[in-house]
Amino acid sequence: TPIAILISGRGSNMRSLIAACTEPDFPASVALVLSNKEDAAGLDYSRSLGLRTEAVPHKAFGKDREAHEHAIDAKLKEAGVEFICLAGYMRLLTPFLTDAWAGRMINIHPSLLPLFPGTHTHERALEAGVRIHGCTVHHVTAGMDEGPIIAQAAVPVFPKKDSADDLAARVLVQEHVLYPAALKAVLVGTGGSVSSEDRLLVV
Ligand code: GRF
Repeated sequence: TPIAILISGRGSNMRSLIAACTEPDFPASVALVLSNKEDAAGLDYSRSLGLRTEAVPHKAFGKDREAHEHAIDAKLKEAGVEFICLAGYMRLLTPFLTDAWAGRMINIHPSLLPLFPGTHTHERALEAGVRIHGCTVHHVTAGMDEGPIIAQAAVPVFPKKDSADDLAARVLVQEHVLYPAALKAVLVGTGGSVSSEDRLLVV
């Protein structure tokens, strides 16, 4: 399945997906890496590998989120993309894109959803005093971080010792394992079209 990876920044999850796609029998190939920021570090990396990359800066569209997403959608179609992985893509999506790609777009989020949707998840996990934290791969719907859960990985929290950065690093290691595994499960499970029943747990 030709996939697009959408990023905004450093792109470490993007790298783990790219690496997985080079393995024999992995059911996806990277058709496009796309960023809403021209200077995203991840773009340089994917370019250096010779992957097709595009920057579609949201700034060019002012407050018109949908116009920005139309431009993204055009790039996705041009590249023959059939499935989207959001990997640190830091823009809220409108129903235009989430409806157009319903069942064919997934995201990784650095918490055990439904706890801590949104940003600053590691700080909030420490503040809340949870002893288990982690990451979630989920289908993307119009509600932020609300779509059906595909897979989760858990890590321990050490409340006296951990800083938010410690926790972020511990979770990130799991993100890099979980995301390719969840993508594979989704694609192999149903040949690329997904229903909300397709869930699994990876710890
Ligand atoms: C990750 O923690 C991801 O879960 C979140 O944003 C971060 C992106 O990191 N959505 P990277 O760009 O993949 O390194």
